Formats: sequence, C-alpha cells, structure tokens
Amino acid sequence: MCRYLSKYSAFFLFLALSGIIFLLRNIHTVENWNCHTVSALHQLQSRIHSSFLAVGLPTFNHNRTFCAHLGQKLSPEDELEERYLLDSISWPGPPSPRLASLSLRQTSDPVHSLFTILPNKGRREWRLGDQLEALVQIHDFQGRPKRYGGDFLLARLHSPELRAGVAGTVVDHGNGIYSALFPLLWAGPARVEVTLVHSSEAVAVLKQLREERPDRVFFKSLFRLGFLSETTLCNMCLPSDQQPLCNYTDLYTGEPWYCYKPKLLSCDNRINHAKGGYLKHLLTNKEALLFQSGVNIKVEIHTTGTDRIDVLPQEGKVGEGSTLKPEHFQLAPSGYYYEDSWRPLGGVVMRHFNESSAIALCLRNKVINMYGDSTVRQWFEYLTAAVPELRELNLHSPKNVGPFMAVDIAHNIVLKYRCHGPPIRFSTVLSSELRYVSNELDGLSGGPNTVVVLSVWAHFSTFPVEVYIRRLRHIRRSVVRLLGRAPGTLVVIRSANLQALDQEVSLYNSDWFSLQLDAVLKAMFKGLNVLMVDAWEMSSAHHLPHALHPPPPIVRNMIDLVLSYVCPEKRNNWK
Ligand SMILES: *[C@@H]1O[C@H](CO)[C@@H](O)[C@H](O)[C@H]1NC(C)=O
Ligand SMILES: *[C@@H]1O[C@H](CO)[C@@H](O)[C@H](O)[C@H]1NC(C)=O
Ligand SMILES: *[C@@H]1O[C@H](CO)[C@@H](O)[C@H](O)[C@H]1NC(C)=O
Repeated sequence: MCRYLSKYSAFFLFLALSGIIFLLRNIHTVENWNCHTVSALHQLQSRIHSSFLAVGLPTFNHNRTFCAHLGQKLSPEDELEERYLLDSISWPGPPSPRLASLSLRQTSDPVHSLFTILPNKGRREWRLGDQLEALVQIHDFQGRPKRYGGDFLLARLHSPELRAGVAGTVVDHGNGIYSALFPLLWAGPARVEVTLVHSSEAVAVLKQLREERPDRVFFKSLFRLGFLSETTLCNMCLPSDQQPLCNYTDLYTGEPWYCYKPKLLSCDNRINHAKGGYLKHLLTNKEALLFQSGVNIKVEIHTTGTDRIDVLPQEGKVGEGSTLKPEHFQLAPSGYYYEDSWRPLGGVVMRHFNESSAIALCLRNKVINMYGDSTVRQWFEYLTAAVPELRELNLHSPKNVGPFMAVDIAHNIVLKYRCHGPPIRFSTVLSSELRYVSNELDGLSGGPNTVVVLSVWAHFSTFPVEVYIRRLRHIRRSVVRLLGRAPGTLVVIRSANLQALDQEVSLYNSDWFSLQLDAVLKAMFKGLNVLMVDAWEMSSAHHLPHALHPPPPIVRNMIDLVLSYVCPEKRNNWK
C-alpha cells in the first residue's frame, strides 16, 4: 500500500512540477504577477534549475576561432601583431599521426632522461661572465632516446652555499635533445638543475584543451529582484543556439561576456559574478597517464656526470661580478639571486627596504593603484603587513575579492587594490564591482604621485591565447594613453609565475599555459616605459618550491624591486 502511495505521489508531484515549469516557461513578464506567488513557484524551479547547472552545461561547437574572435574586429595592425605573437610562441608537438596511437611507454620519462654539462671551449673551466651549456637528452619510459621535441623543461643554475640562483634558457633542437644555457653571474660553486615539467605528449594534450575547451572553467551569475532569484551560466562565449543570452559585452573595450538569460528576470537584474566550477573528465584514461605527480609532472632529470661546477673570477679580477652587465651575455636573464637578494640586470639599481619606515618614506604622497588577480593582491597584503601605519579601511568588501584600500595619513599614502574584469575565478564579485583594467586606467589622472601596478594572467590560462592578447591590447592602449597625458606616472607590470602542479592543476593552470601568456605579456609591453617585474624568473631562479602565491622571501624581493623603481637611490640617475 505504502509503495503504491509513494509511487502515485511521485507521479503527482511530477505532474505538478511539470505544470509549474510549463507555467513558468510561458511567463514573459513578471510585472503582472503577484510577486509572492511567482517567488514561491520560482524558488522551486530555481532549485531544480540550479541542481541542473553543473550537469546541464551547454555543448560547445568546438573550433579554434569560437571564443577567440568574439568581440571587436581587429585592425590590420592588430591582426599582424597577433599573428606575430602567436608565431613567436608556437610550440612543436609530437609528429602526426598523433598521440592517440602512442602508449605511455613511448612518451618522455624524466627518470630515463639525462643531462651533461658541456666543456667550455674545450676545457672544464668556467669564469664569471662565461656561458654554461648543459645538453639534455630525453628518453622514453623504455629508455629509448626521443626523436622529436616539444618537452617543457625548466633549467636553473644555483648555489645553496651562496643562496644564489638564475633561470636558464632552454633551446629545443627538435630531436629529443635540448640545450640549457646559463650566464655565469657569480664566482664560486654552481649547480645545474633540469626539470621536466611536462612531456611533449602532455603539452599536446594541454594545447588541445586550451583551444577546444575554453569552457573547462565555467562561471555563473546570480540575478535577483525582490524575492525572485535565479542563477545562470556565464562565460566569454556561450553557444547561442541553446538558450537566449544576456550580452554584457563592455561598451568601451568591446570585451565580450555573456550569461544565459534568466527565465523570469531580466538581464539588468544581474547582481554578481562568480566561479561556477571546473569541468571534470577532460582526459581519456590514456591521456591521464601523461599527468602523474612524481612520474612525469615536474620531475628532476639526472646528470650523466656531475651537476656541479666552480666558477672562477674573471681573469685579472677578484670577487663576484657586480660589474657584469646584460650585454655581456648572449641570453640575458632579467636578474639573479645572490645571498637571497634579487639583482636585476639592467634598469633598476636594487635597494633594500627592510624597515617599515623606509617603505613609508618611499611611498610618501603616493597613490598606488593595484589591479589584477590574487598575485598582486598579495603585494597589497605584504605592504599593509610591512607598514603598520598603512591601515586598511573596512570597505565591507568580500574577503579575498575586494576592492581594498589602505591609507597612511601621516605619510599621505593611499594603497588600493581591485580585481580585473571577467574572466575572474573569484568566489563572488558584485556586478557593480566588475571593472576592466583598461577602463579603470582611463579614469586615472596619473602623474608623478601615481603608481599603477598590474597583474593579469592567472585567470586566462583556460582560454585561447587570442583572448589574452585582446585583453592586453586594451590594457596597453590605456597605459599608453595614461603615460601620454601624465608622463610622470609609474607603471609596474607583474608577470606570471610558476606554481605547484598536480594532474588537476595542470589541466586548468599548468605552467605551460602561464609560460605562453608570459611570453605574450613581455613582448606586448616591451619598449614601453613600464617596469616589468619578472615574476617568472624570480620564481624559477629561487630555491623555494613553486607556488601560485610565491612565498614571502620572493614577494619581498619583488616589492624591493618595485620600491627601488619608485624611489631610485639618486633621482633620474638610472634612466
Ligand atoms: C566554428 O564555430 C562557429 C560558431 O559556432 C560556427 O559558426 C562555425 O561553423 C564553426 N566552424 C567550424 C569549422 O566548425
Ligand atoms: C553583444 O554586444 C556587442 C556590443 O553591443 C555586439 O557587438 C555583439 O555582436 C553582441 N553579441 C551578440 C551575440 O549579439
Ligand atoms: C637593512 O639593510 C641595511 C642595508 O642593507 C642594513 O645595514 C641594516 O642592518 C638592515 N636592517 C635590518 C633591520 O635588517
């Protein structure tokens, strides 16, 4: 009896729900309805709807240009630049017929791979200012040498004794052999470290994900009016053939952004933006084998002989090489660590701001505007912690999201942080606080008391590179305008950094994605009067483990670099 009852009640519930849903689907305006009735009905529907949000994701028509070329049409110059940038980061892959036919045993294995330090002009003797070369041969899991390139390697030369380190340059010879090149920037002991971040086969999978699954991180917005609320899916592009869209394309920049239109509410009722989630099951079982922590993600490669050398002082000179300039080197890094302090090559003369009073004096009378992701919010947090007088105001902003502001009345310092516009994977940002960096920059007067700090990279790794190029093009245009109307403005750009990777993180945030974005960022701001803080090299050269939010010793060096730029030892001497 009970079974029958529950069966029937389920049936009737189903009928009732269908009726409600049918009713709601046919409502076009809410205005004529009694709000309470609609609200009650709607809450039911939106609960049904929300639980379907994750499973009922739209099916994308996956093709390369789908997401990338939404937005304004490119000018011929922009198109040319985009071509050039994309060419400059093109990455070789396994030869076709591809991947699918390969077994794990035929893919790159860091344990079987080896590197050798090559002699220097025929001798095993190195001097300050020379270049060190190590040759890396990649083998597969069966110990056979690989015959094609495309592996993602990191190389570092470092000295635990001197707490020194520099990032190496890796050259892919396209045949399974790579050169790791290092400028010798300090006298004394030095050790070569080569790491396989991803096999070329894994990179091919990442490349495919980037082009075909820009939806693998998805977003949502809450719409609300009175008692009514609905949540829908949002992204930079959404298939428009499945449901009507709300078009939030930015009027000034043309940056595209869309949400599915809520059933009852209007597009104007959007109240916030948030990360929806991460798509799962992106890999086949076979592909998953290419992303194994401790096996083929960020594993060190061993040497055939020694990984250590001793660097002698330059002939006729003593001591380590503070006189070395970037032009001494074929491949100039942006700097190196010595005694745990970053020494930039070229441009800024590093000062150390190890006391809060020194930081406050440097920033006196300045308005510092920070825009971007959490990696620059980290700078805001560092400064407010380092300078007690810099008191953070309670703006009632959501934790970690902002906007944030801190002031030091005595020194007349204002420090601000605001996140960049979508795509941003923060928990919940109010729609009213969703601003594009370029629009914010257009609203600044600028001048010698204004410092602008930008960090825009981490939330772009799931999209095709064209999306990032477009964003940076808009930001760069605004930077150029700002520097034009207020030439004294100091603009600092923080680049991407390395992070801790496992299988899951790799699919959304791999260093390979960041490396590609980083190359684009550096190329696009080259030649402008801005300070590029090379977070990539600063995280790659350091001995501490990679982390999305680099540990304090690295942040301290970044801040010291910025402050040294803002407050050079002798004004205008360094330019
Ligand atoms: C790419 O996607 C667009 C937008 O959905 C579609 O119109 C076009 O036909 C697709 N191209 C290919 C080659 O599938
Ligand atoms: C969204 O709006 C922008 C700017 O008004 C327009 O260029 C674009 O075509 C619109 N997108 C769609 C899918 O209608
Ligand atoms: C700060 O740095 C200066 C010069 O580098 C040094 O003389 C001083 O002792 C340092 N102060 C602290 C508190 O570490």
